[in-house]
Amino acid sequence: MYKIAVIPGDGTGPEVVSEGLKVLKAVSEKFNFKYQLIHYDLGGDHYLKTGEILPDSTLEELRTMDAIYLGAIGHPDVKPGILEKGILLKTRFELDQFINLRPVKLYPGVETPLKDKKPEDIDFIVVRENTEGAYLGAGGFHKKGTPDEIAVQEAIHTRKGVERCIRYGFQYCRKRNKKKKVTLCGKTNVLTYAFDLWERTFREVASEFQDIQTDYAHVDAICMWMVKNPEWFDVIVTDNMFGDIITDLGAMIQGGLGIAAGGNINPQGVSMFEPMGGSAPKYTGKGVVSPLAAIGACQMMLEHLGEEEAAKKIEDAVMKVVRNDVKSLTAGKMGYSTSEVGDLVVKYLTK
Ligand code: IPM
Ligand code: MN
Repeated sequence: MYKIAVIPGDGTGPEVVSEGLKVLKAVSEKFNFKYQLIHYDLGGDHYLKTGEILPDSTLEELRTMDAIYLGAIGHPDVKPGILEKGILLKTRFELDQFINLRPVKLYPGVETPLKDKKPEDIDFIVVRENTEGAYLGAGGFHKKGTPDEIAVQEAIHTRKGVERCIRYGFQYCRKRNKKKKVTLCGKTNVLTYAFDLWERTFREVASEFQDIQTDYAHVDAICMWMVKNPEWFDVIVTDNMFGDIITDLGAMIQGGLGIAAGGNINPQGVSMFEPMGGSAPKYTGKGVVSPLAAIGACQMMLEHLGEEEAAKKIEDAVMKVVRNDVKSLTAGKMGYSTSEVGDLVVKYLTK
């Protein structure tokens, strides 16, 4: 019996999460596994009503779960940073979800903005460090609001944090068993301390994986190559900030935020799965956004829980929906509503 925490969150989060749960229910019946859902009302509306962000008692409960399924965090009436730091980043940090795993995979039938690129050209995964770097929140203001103001925002990179991220990348690459290549994405020509540590650690860890080819690219160059030659990549390992940026680019080349999912992974602890698109306030409640990213997050969650067959079945069903049914993944242009797309996935699953 899996205990799954569900945090639908803000904006379109609840509507896409309910499609993911619809798929979870269908697949659990087919593959005979049981789960219990524990819903948490967290996010912008809850904060505006109660002043509560993420209570410690909730965090303690989350620690006892088998997985967390999250919709979206971010509310137009709440100052940027409060909910993101208070809910999303706090959970990532406190539960030590040190990997942010983001597959970039173009399914047949999905439109990519990259001219002449086919599904066989776009199939890689970004392993983003998820608990340190610029995201740690180290720094502060001096003489705030005056002409002499100073703002410092430091990026913290620890040997332990860098090493466990890189090692995860190599292990993942071996298990993935595709091109068997790990590319380090950094900025060794400017960030000569941080990425010196990353590069040295990368070389050391790589020596334990003789079966895997290695490569290095600066982050700016990686943005070029992801557009021009995405077929070069298999596994890209990078720090938190760069990983945040390049995975939005990755989401676009795989067909957009309507299909891109990710997992915040603690291999020994509790992991959290989420669609990559944000709360999309302007589409909220209209039933026009794609639920396929949230369904993909559910697939990643099941794979993580060891329900590999069920996960594979979800992916197959999603691939059928994008090939046969939906016209586009852009909000409002699918040709179906959010819940109809969820129903289509269920239809292929149960067939
Ligand atoms: C993401 C998001 C978050 C991040 C925001 C919402 C804090 O952009 O998951 O990529 O920057 O990590
Ligand atoms: Mn992001």
